[in-house]
Amino acid sequence: MLPSVLFVASECAPFAKTGGLGDVVGALPIALAARGHDVRVVLPKYDILKPAQMWRHPEALAVPLGAGIAWCAVWESRLPGSEVPVYFLEHDALFGRGYLYDPPKGHAADNMVRFAMLSRGAFALARHLNFTPDIFHSHDWPSALVPVYANTTERGTALAGAATVLTIHNLAHQGISPEADLWRTHVPRECFREDGLEDHGNVNLLKGGLYHATMLTTVSPRYAEEIRTPEHGAGLENLLRFRAGDLVGVLNGIDTRAWDPAKDVYLPAHYDAQDLSGKVVCKRALQEELGLAVREDVPLLGVVTRLGPQKGTDIIAAAVPQLLGLGAQLVVLGSGDSRTEETFRYYSAQSPGGFRAKIGFDERLAHRIEAASDLFLMPSRFEPCGLNQMYSMRYGTLPLVRATGGLDDTVQQCDERTGEGTGFKLHDLSVSSLVETARWAVRVWRENRPHFRTMQYRAMRQDFGWERAAKRYGEVYRWALERRRGHSA
Ligand code: ADP
Ligand code: GLC
Repeated sequence: MLPSVLFVASECAPFAKTGGLGDVVGALPIALAARGHDVRVVLPKYDILKPAQMWRHPEALAVPLGAGIAWCAVWESRLPGSEVPVYFLEHDALFGRGYLYDPPKGHAADNMVRFAMLSRGAFALARHLNFTPDIFHSHDWPSALVPVYANTTERGTALAGAATVLTIHNLAHQGISPEADLWRTHVPRECFREDGLEDHGNVNLLKGGLYHATMLTTVSPRYAEEIRTPEHGAGLENLLRFRAGDLVGVLNGIDTRAWDPAKDVYLPAHYDAQDLSGKVVCKRALQEELGLAVREDVPLLGVVTRLGPQKGTDIIAAAVPQLLGLGAQLVVLGSGDSRTEETFRYYSAQSPGGFRAKIGFDERLAHRIEAASDLFLMPSRFEPCGLNQMYSMRYGTLPLVRATGGLDDTVQQCDERTGEGTGFKLHDLSVSSLVETARWAVRVWRENRPHFRTMQYRAMRQDFGWERAAKRYGEVYRWALERRRGHSA
């Protein structure tokens, strides 16, 4: 029997997503189920969940929290196109707030308790379902208390034999809260120590999870190495070095059904690696839609991203005039950092024929940009994995990335002598290095079209499906069980 798994997560596409974490939790369980794992997912029932068919369990769930018991209702659905059960924990006071993590431009002071409800609720749910998972699989700080509970409050229960796996999607967010609120989570006070949840006098949920989880994973092999260095360890590098023997990098896949240029429901025309004529139609349609000059002979550079320091979007913003100076068009879809938003808005008003910025989150436009662009810019300062560069390659849109984390693992550098490559990589993060790499890519597009075409073909034929990752997670689960129980069966 393959290990059974309960995913505990704060996002899961299509129900709730702010970034790649949602994509992963929405897709990986389906690939695991296809391999034969009994896998289920639990997440909060935010009031802003996308409408979905779901039904409510008659019995409420009692979750020990705060001064007594917090009650929540359990709702159930399925991951679309699969039989994978998804459970939603409903507790209006904590999750009915119009946001996932923080209010716009604000900060939710009680996130530790909100997500303790999710983590502790996962154990209550397992009991309620009469489901004894072999593995609890947590993702980032919001479910990092699961391994802590497994080692403390759950000790001696039927669920204590479960191994815990914590996947790091992004070390930049750790879930820091004041110590004074720790009692509300019921995590025993003795866990508040340097080799535990304590971090400069505060509670650090991720750190606690990293100490307590049976195994750790992160979303690319390269990032698994980088996070053991001061540059990328976000203050946790020593702990990650200490746990290096239990830390595995598993490269994310992408949802190849939702992101398929031959079938994508958002596109005005379809295409594949053999015949790119539909891509030309997509380019023209996007130029028309956004009011750019309709020019097939001008390279179109695309960006779809959160705007913030991680993504290097400040560098893109500063480079806009020089990028347009290469005789290229640029389209940006994103939201986040307000100064970067302002800069993009400014240039968008200045150069309507050559540059368009759409500030916001727009799934349809994201797909249309991926299909229409010739090149995709992603000069991240750090990137645990990154999905957009993989979407781009699948759409024949060559990524121009900084050689870091998952970007370095997934993109192969263009080599004009050998004809190799699936994209263009830069090393230093600066305006000049971004512009010079873009100049090179634009030149290859203009002057060496056969090579560009070969790279597109190669990029489109890469295997980015989830099967490979699911197999690898299956091994991680087995290793975790061996560590927890002394045997994997
Ligand atoms: P991260 O999770 O760090 O933001 P990823 O590349 O892993 O980066 O995943 C980002 C996901 O969010 C992708 O599915 C991407 O298409 C989507 N996304 C990001 N910004 C936007 C936006 N403004 N509109 C639509 N989709 C977006
Ligand atoms: C995080 C990372 C991103 C990764 C995603 C999914 O949001 O920033 O690089 O692709 O998680 O694992």
